Amino acid sequence: MRVLPALCLLLVGTACHAETPQQIIQTYAADAAARQPGFTPSAKRGAALFHQRFALNDKMPACTSCHTDSPLNAGQHAVTGKAIRPLAVAVNGERFADPAKVEKWFGRNCKEVVGRACTPGEKADFVAYMSAVR
Ligand code: HEC
Repeated sequence: MRVLPALCLLLVGTACHAETPQQIIQTYAADAAARQPGFTPSAKRGAALFHQRFALNDKMPACTSCHTDSPLNAGQHAVTGKAIRPLAVAVNGERFADPAKVEKWFGRNCKEVVGRACTPGEKADFVAYMSAVR
């Protein structure tokens, strides 16, 4: 188990864990289906999650607080003001390519905005929306 990541670094650098958004959706969907048989990812539910206001955190009540009302737009961090590139795959081909990065940001953002971890089903839906939106 220790050898593999080292090999990855040697051979292909950071691209070792590169995946497509479709693969990332499938991984989350399989996880969701294990708990909820018959689960299929829904871009529509993903859009609803993206726009939902949680009112847990004044500065960032929703995903849109930093990512704007459209994933096609560049965003801005609600606290630091730092620019954020668009989440939509259609305008930013670098999105949802690294499962570790995707997990890291779902972890941080869901906790801050939703107040809990997002479920595998919510993640599958969210990435499905980001892949479909045009
Ligand atoms: C406080 C600002 C902020 C809010 C609110 C926010 N995000 Fe983000 N998000 C970021 C930043 C900063 C990044 C990392 C920079 C980047 O990838 O451009 C990011 C990246 C992501 C990524 C990684 C995408 C990839 O390419 O791998 C996902 C997934 C994500 N956010 C989901 C969400 C979800 C879901 C919500 C709402 C529940 C949300 N974000 C709300 C700031 C925010």
